[in-house]
Amino acid sequence: MRADALVLFGGTGDLAKKKLFPALYEMEEAGELEIPVIGVASSKWTQEEFRANAERAIRDRIKNIDEVILKRLLDELYLVVGDYRSPETFELLRDQLSAFKLPVIYLAIAPDMFETICKGLARVGITQHARVVVEKPFGRDLTSALELDDSLKKILPEDQIYRIDHYLGKESVEDLLVFRFANTLFEPVWNRNYIASVQITMSEDFGIEGRGKFYDGVGATRDVLQNHMFQVLTMLAMEPPIDLTSKAMQDEKIKVLSAVRELQPEDVVRGQYVGYLGEDGIAADSDTETFVAMRLFIDNWRWAGVPFYMRTGKKMAVTTLEAVIEFKQPPRILFSESESSQPMPNIVRFRLGASDGVDISLQAKAPGARLVTDCVDLTVEFAAALGERKEAYERLLDAALEGDHFRFNRIDSVLQSWKVLDPILKNPSKLHPYFAHSWGPSEAIELVAGGWNLVGKVSHIHTQTSLGSAS
Ligand code: BG6
Repeated sequence: MRADALVLFGGTGDLAKKKLFPALYEMEEAGELEIPVIGVASSKWTQEEFRANAERAIRDRIKNIDEVILKRLLDELYLVVGDYRSPETFELLRDQLSAFKLPVIYLAIAPDMFETICKGLARVGITQHARVVVEKPFGRDLTSALELDDSLKKILPEDQIYRIDHYLGKESVEDLLVFRFANTLFEPVWNRNYIASVQITMSEDFGIEGRGKFYDGVGATRDVLQNHMFQVLTMLAMEPPIDLTSKAMQDEKIKVLSAVRELQPEDVVRGQYVGYLGEDGIAADSDTETFVAMRLFIDNWRWAGVPFYMRTGKKMAVTTLEAVIEFKQPPRILFSESESSQPMPNIVRFRLGASDGVDISLQAKAPGARLVTDCVDLTVEFAAALGERKEAYERLLDAALEGDHFRFNRIDSVLQSWKVLDPILKNPSKLHPYFAHSWGPSEAIELVAGGWNLVGKVSHIHTQTSLGSAS
């Protein structure tokens, strides 16, 4: 059954502004919403201020607004103001929801309030007939995730919980599955016999953008590596699911995460950009990483011995999200006249962020009399080839309203990802400073045998990578 109301805890917050209101507009336009949206917030805003804030958020991010659709959405926005710890807030919300049978309650707030809010909802009976969407990160390590799960379980059955990770809503990330399992060309070589390494980069050229207080308590590992980057990793490494049910997908994900070898301190490099400590909401002696790079191994038959490298950071050289699969060198028997004419390995580069697509680097015969090779790229821009796709949050909100768990995380894979990271969260490695708009600390560059495969089409970047060193 489709939900008949949407409640947004954190309705005046950053996520609502940047992602949720624009997604709601798109849904209204597509005829997928048509229900009231009730914000809950501790900020003492009036309903008019709440609507004006939503309107600004939508106008800032959506081109060619249809004023009739916008007005229809804004007219259906309501706000409940109150402290999340106070029972009255939940009584007000219960009254507001009295006419609705199946609300979706979206907790777009910091995870330390999930339990308090769910208890508040349960006390007034809302959880009996609601779906609850919880944002990432779910906990801050294995122990706290287990505790959070235990306390939520007492209030809500698993089928009413939707653990969101918006990377599961990205069409480009889902495409990894299609690319691997709908093309005979790739799957036979997608293993340790042919693949030399896998590199995943999620870099952002901007900083923490006013989210200091939240970010300083979290850091890059918990903010994006444990969730978004692990989703990309599992899509690249998992076995084919037996079918496209949520269960089959989750069963394969958990298998691959369970095969990750225990991380050692030398597998991880943490960094913090210079200037971070001076930003609003950041502790003067903060040890929080704004960059993390990692090498991990998946000890199973498909991947034994193949290094998977991952890096993510704020204030990096460019904003990009990509996965690079580097194949092993072909034999050099025929084309090895000199060092420079030796064939390069094939590379498949998935561009997963804005202007997503795929580039496949192949060798072709270089012009001229000699039989030597040159590198050529086969490039596809998905938007041009396939048309524009929906934004992740629009797809996920729609799925939660519909009651479809396919694009949400099951608890065992969340716990398993914390289990992988637990050793390095318990014993964080040394923090290295790096200059803003670089590729992070030089130690992260040294982590990768042969170096990181340079992010596609970027040659003009600032290459000073670490304090006092340039490369
Ligand atoms: C969020 C993180 O979950 O994902 C942010 O909290 C990050 O720090 C964002 O910037 C990145 O999302 P996207 O879709 O722009 O890659």
